[in-house]
Amino acid sequence: MPDTITIIDDRTGKQVTVPITDGVFPATAVRELDPSLYIYDPAYMQTAACKSAVTYLDGDAGILRYRGYPIEQLAEHSTYLEVAYLLLNGELPNPEQLAAWTTEVTHHTFIHENMRKRFVDGFHYDAHPMGMLVSAIAALGTFYDDAKDIKDKSSRDKQILRLIAKMPTLAAMSFRFSVGLPFVYPNNSLSFPANFINMMWRVGDDYEIDPRLERAMDVLFILHADHEQNCGTTAMRVVGSAESDPYTCAAAAASALYGPLHGGANEAVVRMLTEIGSVDNVPAFIDSVKNGQGGRLMGFGHRVYKNYDPRATIIKKTAYDVFEVTGKNPLLDIALKLEEVALSDDYFISRKLYPNVDFYSGLIYQALGFPVAMFTVLFAIPRTVGWLAHWQELLGDKDQKISRPRQWYTGVGVRDYVPVDDR
Ligand code: CMC
Repeated sequence: MPDTITIIDDRTGKQVTVPITDGVFPATAVRELDPSLYIYDPAYMQTAACKSAVTYLDGDAGILRYRGYPIEQLAEHSTYLEVAYLLLNGELPNPEQLAAWTTEVTHHTFIHENMRKRFVDGFHYDAHPMGMLVSAIAALGTFYDDAKDIKDKSSRDKQILRLIAKMPTLAAMSFRFSVGLPFVYPNNSLSFPANFINMMWRVGDDYEIDPRLERAMDVLFILHADHEQNCGTTAMRVVGSAESDPYTCAAAAASALYGPLHGGANEAVVRMLTEIGSVDNVPAFIDSVKNGQGGRLMGFGHRVYKNYDPRATIIKKTAYDVFEVTGKNPLLDIALKLEEVALSDDYFISRKLYPNVDFYSGLIYQALGFPVAMFTVLFAIPRTVGWLAHWQELLGDKDQKISRPRQWYTGVGVRDYVPVDDR
């Protein structure tokens, strides 16, 4: 006997019983009860807007898995490109598949010269790199006639390759333009993360990348590759449901990520730590958070995780790996003290507020030399594969239609127009 739920309309006495599967029941039950009845759920707090087999997240237990594989194992043993293959195809690649996939991504890293010379050069000299990236993703789609053939699998696969491969190039190009440095072409003999680092920082022929930093970049890319139905991925799905091309969808997803409540929190963490200024000031800062005068403890708390964000644990370890090369970020001690004080304070314990992915990532980015304006761009590069995995899943899902929620109308009732001179 499956679990069921019965909804009774007290107005009419009518009742509908529907099955509960994996903790979810269909909203069609409400339609059956009364087609003019709607569920009010702003921010989709209690709504599963799709079925998905990509990423599993248990916020109470602090579990994150891509296609069933624990994030800890992937971060320890895998690479970003292998994870990208996994997210898109559902299975880890065998050696031949991984080699072919890597070669294909590597051969799509270049962008059309017009993108660089005409499009990017048209921005104001101090344009924000994330604003440039959002626009560049949408513009990129105009270079590919076949981008609109979203019903054709071979065309879809090609756009997926292009987007994954060109994101680091667009990101590095936006950054270098924003700081007045010349463009560095992709070097396809390098790994995915090394190629990105090279395009960002290359200053001369003797430029070399420390393998520990290359690995740290790859781990950060793995950790940010997907996070089920977050705001950006939801934007990707909503625009994708209108059958827009994947570049336009990804530009929408990146636009959502640009918002400070979504991709911008690690930037806020660095600002907060800088303002706190020293370990001695931590207790007073925590008090000010608790009494509502110091704002929120940035990098703490999560809508879904009511436990330590598993990505935060891995990022903390990665931070130490990076600091071995770059020297310790002076803000680390303040972060550690904040964590220690908060995790033993009843205010944070009772509200289940733990460090999230952003608490330590900004410290790593800063130690690597990235300006804060680049932090969200660094998030967007790997998240592109998550967006695309969900876009692909959406297009193959028979239950999906164009996204079109209803509203709870709270405006005035009908009234007659009054000519302006009579008002
Ligand atoms: N510092 C202090 N108090 C907090 C914090 C915080 N960081 N986060 C939540 N609270 C308190 C909040 O004041 C409320 O207390 P009360 O019940 O007394 O009113 C309670 O905890 C519940 O908060 P909420 O706002 O209802 O929780 P939410 O699920 O809507 O918000 C959040 C989640 C991530 C927006 C929030 O925890 C927050 O603002 N954190 C700081 C910003 C941050 O680090 N964002 C990164 C999120 S992870 C990135 C990603 O995965 O995309």
